[in-house]
Amino acid sequence: MGRVAYVNGRYVPHGSASVHIEDRGYQFADGVYEVIAIQDGRLIDEEPHLDRLGRSLDALAIRWPMSRAALRHVLREVIRRNRLSGRRCGPGAAYLQVTRGIAARNHAFPASADPVLVMTARAMPPFDPEAARRGVSVITLPDERWRRPDIKSISLLPNVLAKQTAVEAGAYEAWLVDDAGQVTEGTASNAWIVTADGELVTREADRSILSGITRATVMRLAREHGLRIGERRFAVAEAKAAAEAFVTGTTSWVKPVVRIDDVPVGGGRIGPLSDRLLAWYAGYVETGGRGAA
Ligand code: PDD
Repeated sequence: MGRVAYVNGRYVPHGSASVHIEDRGYQFADGVYEVIAIQDGRLIDEEPHLDRLGRSLDALAIRWPMSRAALRHVLREVIRRNRLSGRRCGPGAAYLQVTRGIAARNHAFPASADPVLVMTARAMPPFDPEAARRGVSVITLPDERWRRPDIKSISLLPNVLAKQTAVEAGAYEAWLVDDAGQVTEGTASNAWIVTADGELVTREADRSILSGITRATVMRLAREHGLRIGERRFAVAEAKAAAEAFVTGTTSWVKPVVRIDDVPVGGGRIGPLSDRLLAWYAGYVETGGRGAA
C-alpha cells in the first residue's frame, strides 16, 4: 500500500494526486500551509498549529476550507491512511496547504472561488539525540523575503534559494539577516543564541519572523525550568560571539548550532543549555506534545 494524499474532498494515491493548473497557489503562491510533527500517532502541538493556520488564512482573507473539527478529522484520516497513526508507527510529518482556489488568472481575488485544501503525510527519520548533539553549522545571508514572514504563506522562493546556498556551502541552515544587520530567522526554523550569562535570546515575534510553534513550546519549557529569556533582536556579530546557538522548528526540533559562517560558536561544541533544551523538548514530544501554549 502506497502513500495517500487528500486533495479537496478525495483521498487519492500520492503518485497521481494533482491540482488544477489554475489553482492560485500554483500561479500566484496565493495560499498558506502548516507542517505538524507526528510522534506515536499523535500530532505534536496540533491546536497551536491550527490556531496559526487560522491567523494566516485571516491575514490573506482566505476562508477556512471546512470547519476546524472537519479539518482535524481529515488530518487524522490522512495519518491513518499513511500508516502513521498507531503507537508503534514511526515518526512523521503532516503537511497541509490551503489556497484561495481555482479561477481564471487575474491578480485580483476571484469573485467566487472555493479554497482548495491539500494534505499529505510522510514518515520521518526518528530523532537521533547523538547526531543532534554533534551540532550543525549555519551561514548568514541577506533576508530577501517580503515584509510579512509572520504569515505562513506558500510563497517560499527566497527561503528555497537561501537554503540551497546553505546546502551548497555544507551548512544545515541559513540565518537571514535584515538591513540593520540583525538576524531574523532561518529559512525553515527560528534562530536562538545563549549569552555568556545564560540568557536565551530569540527575536521578538513581530512581522519579520514566523512565530514558531516549536519556539513557543521551547520558550515555555525553558521558563518552567527557570531559564531567562530575552525576546529581542541580535546582530550577526553577537551571535558569533555567543556562548551557544541553536534553531527550533517542527522538523528540526531543537538543533544546536556550533558554527556560524566560519566562526565556531561555544568552541565548536554544543553548550549545556542547548543540551538541556534538546532533552526537554524530546521529552515533551515523547509524552504527547500537548502543552497548549
Ligand atoms: N517551517 N521560520 C520559518 C521561516 C519556517 O518556515 C518555520 C517552519 C519555522 C519554525 O516554525 P515551527 O516551529 O512552527 O515549525 C520558523 C516548516 C517546518 C517548513 O516550512 O517545512
